[in-house]
Amino acid sequence: DIELKELQQHAEQYADREVTVRGWVRQNRSSNRFGFIALNDGTCFSPVQIVYEAEELGNFEEIARAPLSAGILVKGRLLLTPQAKQPFEIHAEEVTIEADSAADYPLQNKRHSMEFLREIAHLRPRANTFQAVFRVRSLVAYAIHQFFQERGFVYVHTPIITGSDAEGAGEMFQLTTLDLNDLPRTEDGSIDYTKDFFGKECNLTVSGQLEAEIFALAFRNVYTFGPTFRAENSNTARHASEFWMIEPEIAFADLADDMALAEDMVKYIINYVLEHAPAEMDFFNRFIDKGLLDRLQHVAGSEFERVTYTRAVEILQSCGEKFQYPVEWGIDLQTEHERYLTETVFKKPIFVTDYPKDIKAFYMRLNDDGKTVAACDMLVPGVGEIIGGSQREERLDVLQARMKELGLSEKDYWWYLELRKYGGVKHAGYGLGFERIIMYITGMSNIRDVLPFPRTPKTAEF
Ligand code: 4AD
Ligand code: MG
Repeated sequence: DIELKELQQHAEQYADREVTVRGWVRQNRSSNRFGFIALNDGTCFSPVQIVYEAEELGNFEEIARAPLSAGILVKGRLLLTPQAKQPFEIHAEEVTIEADSAADYPLQNKRHSMEFLREIAHLRPRANTFQAVFRVRSLVAYAIHQFFQERGFVYVHTPIITGSDAEGAGEMFQLTTLDLNDLPRTEDGSIDYTKDFFGKECNLTVSGQLEAEIFALAFRNVYTFGPTFRAENSNTARHASEFWMIEPEIAFADLADDMALAEDMVKYIINYVLEHAPAEMDFFNRFIDKGLLDRLQHVAGSEFERVTYTRAVEILQSCGEKFQYPVEWGIDLQTEHERYLTETVFKKPIFVTDYPKDIKAFYMRLNDDGKTVAACDMLVPGVGEIIGGSQREERLDVLQARMKELGLSEKDYWWYLELRKYGGVKHAGYGLGFERIIMYITGMSNIRDVLPFPRTPKTAEF
């Protein structure tokens, strides 16, 4: 049998020929003489129309009753229909039901709420929205690999179980191998959570950056692409406990090189998806986020804005807008500020650079002013932060002083410090939140709807 995608791409070649296809019934309407089935096998976005007639089929009545989601096999003739909405249809000569489907199938042909669809995560990949989301998700992953591979970057797998806290922020899911029936106790009798199979505390990784730095100082240009975990208690539409991150790390490079790479990557991804998923992108443009296509096309062809944190604060203070969270130099920008900057002031993706050191991670390179670090966040309309990056502190003494200031133990990061001792050239990198860019490209507004199996308290069925 032939995949429907093949027929859609080369319908002319199959005109008036006999074809055999398989798929699931997405719609079935009939009179007592003929009927139409919208058939999809998952290889393409739009279903294919099957026409069947009582005169042709011995089992016409059975087929007329075929319920939504039944799996069927169709043999028939492909006819081009240039006048109709669909470019071709298949006139059935034989239809067989391969798998029946029960009448209480939850995904009826009507608009279901996203909340309802989240409760049926085992069925929602069949719904139009999720056919489009997860195809695009797959394509974006491929585009990202292609972008870096074309530029000679080495793909490095960093550990998922690790002893280090890459962000120094303590937002890790801790791992233990405790025997619940025989809990180890500390001297005062409380449970000792630090016992585990690495002989020290270990956790799920929050970022592969520190290990990526090891490889960048050996291969020059590298990237990671893997799952990361954050035990932050933020029940928002943009945070998940388990998400995927892409982290390039480049040696002999500074913050400007880092931002140039990030900008090129985002444009590459947009162009790739517009070219390879036109039907899905058209769907998002019509049903999820009107104007999406125009906006993305515009972004792919324009230069991203760069603005320092200090300038951003000045803009926010003088714009006359009343923010819930008051703006002053030193605050961590809140979502409302980020969105105001990218949506109202600049109306395009922007990099905010040179943040105060006190609100950023220990490894960022201290600027000459002694107050700010060489950091960059990329903010985009609709989503806010999708990338966080920086030039790394390569000066051993400055890094040691900074760690001391923050109470981080040199013992825990000994190998990270050694990298600075042995040929630790200037280097930089960033982390792209994979789900965040999928949200940006599809217009989907909740991170739970771009993750196949979102890890949040209410949706951990799997
Ligand atoms: O800004 P973050 O915390 O930066 C890092 O982890 C650096 N080590 C990256 C690097 O320089 N190599 O996270 C990077 C990005 C954020 O911009 C955001 O897009 C995404 O990861 N992110 C999350 N996405 C979903 N859910 C969460 N809880 C996220 N936390 C961060
Ligand atoms: Mg960040």
